[in-house]
Amino acid sequence: MEHSQLVSDAELLTQSLGQFSDAVAEPTFIIISGLPGTGKSYFCNRLAERLPFLILESDALRKVLSPAPSYSSQESSRLFRAVHLLIERLLKKGVSLILDATNLSERYREHLYSIVDRLDIKLILVRVEAPPEVVYERLRARRENTESKSDADWEVYQRMKPSVQKIHRNYYAVDTSRDITPVLDKIVREVTR
Ligand SMILES: Nc1ncnc2c1ncn2[C@@H]1O[C@H](COP(=O)(O)OP(=O)(O)OP(=O)(O)O)[C@@H](O)[C@H]1O
Ligand SMILES: [Mg+2]
Repeated sequence: MEHSQLVSDAELLTQSLGQFSDAVAEPTFIIISGLPGTGKSYFCNRLAERLPFLILESDALRKVLSPAPSYSSQESSRLFRAVHLLIERLLKKGVSLILDATNLSERYREHLYSIVDRLDIKLILVRVEAPPEVVYERLRARRENTESKSDADWEVYQRMKPSVQKIHRNYYAVDTSRDITPVLDKIVREVTR
């Protein structure tokens, strides 16, 4: 891919973002990981009620670059290259971020770790989970609600399940079929420490 396309993609994504949270001297990067329907976006929104962080939702950003997404590997790699550049630029500016994406493979997460290590910023990882029967029911119910940016359904969940890889760094695990408040509290405490 041409470098000029990467730069213009990152520019398009930047323009699509809403109000930026205030720049801070020491930004934090929160990476969410989990299968479709486990409650990542729900969790991120609850977290953003308590922390003035900007949410980067991969499904929403995908539709900025690809209004009728195909979810092909080319489309995804174009998206993720632009998202990586966007993340690096925002963190450099001092904008704290929450990345709301499946982030299932460790090889993919390594790219994110390397940005964090290079910029020497605080990283918080969260693995979002829910029992399969809860996910099944949620995804069925979500089809009727057009608010979601995600197109993923139960079939996509099943297809992606074998791609889940162990997270090699410290992380919080949250089961969203239970009370998520204790994990929200811990993350807020870690950020404000
Ligand atoms: N803790 C929760 N309590 C109640 N409802 C929830 C909870 N978490 C998620 N849901 C509901 O379940 C559905 C799926 O959750 P959500 O959209 O957050 O999943 P997701 O992990 O972001 O999925 P995707 O990867 O497809 O974006 C949504 O309709 C959401 O409102
Ligand atoms: Mg989501």
